[in-house]
Amino acid sequence: MSEKNDFYNKNPQIWEMTERVKKLLLEQYHHPAVFIKTYGCQQNVSDGEKIKGLLASMGYEFADSPENADLVLFNTCAIRENAEVRVFGNVGALKPIKSRRKGMLIALCGCMMQQEIVVEKIKKSYPYVDIVFGTNALQQLPEMLLRRLSGEKRQFDLDGRDGSIIEDLPLCREEGIKANLPIMYGCDNFCSYCIVPYVRGRERSRKLEKILEESRQLVDTGYKEITLLGQNVNSYGKGLDGSVDFSCLLEEMNRLDGDFRIRFMTSHPKDCTEKLIQTIARCEKVYPHFHLPVQSGSNRILKQMNRHYTIEKYLSLIDLARKWIPDVTFSSDIIVGFPGEIRQDFEDTLSLIRQVRYHTLFTFIYSPRPGTKAAEMEDPVPAEEKSAWFQELLDVQSQIRGEIQEAMIGQTVRVLADGKGKSGEGWLSGRTPANDIVEFIGTQEQIGNFVDVKIDRALNWALFGHTA
Ligand code: 5AD
Ligand code: SF4
Repeated sequence: MSEKNDFYNKNPQIWEMTERVKKLLLEQYHHPAVFIKTYGCQQNVSDGEKIKGLLASMGYEFADSPENADLVLFNTCAIRENAEVRVFGNVGALKPIKSRRKGMLIALCGCMMQQEIVVEKIKKSYPYVDIVFGTNALQQLPEMLLRRLSGEKRQFDLDGRDGSIIEDLPLCREEGIKANLPIMYGCDNFCSYCIVPYVRGRERSRKLEKILEESRQLVDTGYKEITLLGQNVNSYGKGLDGSVDFSCLLEEMNRLDGDFRIRFMTSHPKDCTEKLIQTIARCEKVYPHFHLPVQSGSNRILKQMNRHYTIEKYLSLIDLARKWIPDVTFSSDIIVGFPGEIRQDFEDTLSLIRQVRYHTLFTFIYSPRPGTKAAEMEDPVPAEEKSAWFQELLDVQSQIRGEIQEAMIGQTVRVLADGKGKSGEGWLSGRTPANDIVEFIGTQEQIGNFVDVKIDRALNWALFGHTA
């Protein structure tokens, strides 16, 4: 990993700092090791892969716990308050470990670090944190480490940059079957509850050629599933030269040779078009699955959320997708207890999910995020009532999912076998196009390949079957 790739060729000063860090590490530690923990979404996981790539170039090995690490790095998430509370708890737990381990450094990055109040708190209450950097400052890591290892004061790099895309950073990917591929960064939508536009900046798309080049490499190295990532993939291409859009990207990806499949997330309903649906219908390598977050079933709440669609428009998209793609499946995100949501709004959400029948729902209780519009809104509903609604939502969805799973019995589905199953010796695990888990009896050689599985049995968390 420490070879000098294109990124370092284009940034010789970063390469020089990388080399100097490497030298210092060898002087100061026996086997320099880093423990990295990433919180939150796939975008963060993807950033984590770049951070790992940079650290590997500097000579770090990877440790499996903070106790065995010379550098502990938390790549944080700010989407809900409980994510932040967890990070602060885990940073607190590092203090005694650091005091026992001479020379240990602590670095914090990711979305939380883009918030002033968080950084102030770290400056004041966590003096043993050495390095803090924001989501647009990954490439600064060699310089910050170099300074800190050379005995300078603790380092803070909190943006100020325009957020232009840095290409060709070295990468340490998670595993050999599935890869995340960011196609765009940031978000311009400013949904009233959401912190993302504040911590990840304005929406910007990667160049089509860069995405295709990376996809080609992934397929050539044997990856079987590529997930295209963006906060709103449907608006991919905005701001790029020419007429490239998400449909065009999918068409081009679909044209690449090789036995692989394409996922994408997240789709914003306001930018989902019939053209895109028809493209997905046509492209055999694109899974017929939409993660299409609706957030609420109430038009009144959707307006307050600044979502720019109505339930009628949303349902017409679902109908269109079902018309063009007969085997299409859907998943969604739902927020319960948005400020001012009343029982009737919540019941509208229940009725929507009964109508759409999502394979999977990602459900959240509303969490106020300082600086967002919704955090200023009146929120009279008590937390206990929101929790009761939340439980009700889970129960309704659990029944719908049970029925969907049950209906799969007797069907044959193509799954990507991704590892050993949980059901005992000889069982493998795989995922369907809808990303549902399937366990089946198979052979080691099938791992990493597509396998046709006939479903015999269904539970809520998984389907069970045998090779067809
Ligand atoms: N509170 C609760 N859930 C939220 N999400 C985003 N912001 C908040 C918030 N403040 C949810 C949305 C989004 C998903 C990634 O997280 O449902 O689609
Ligand atoms: Fe947040 Fe809305 Fe952007 Fe999604 S589209 S990241 S919910 S602001």
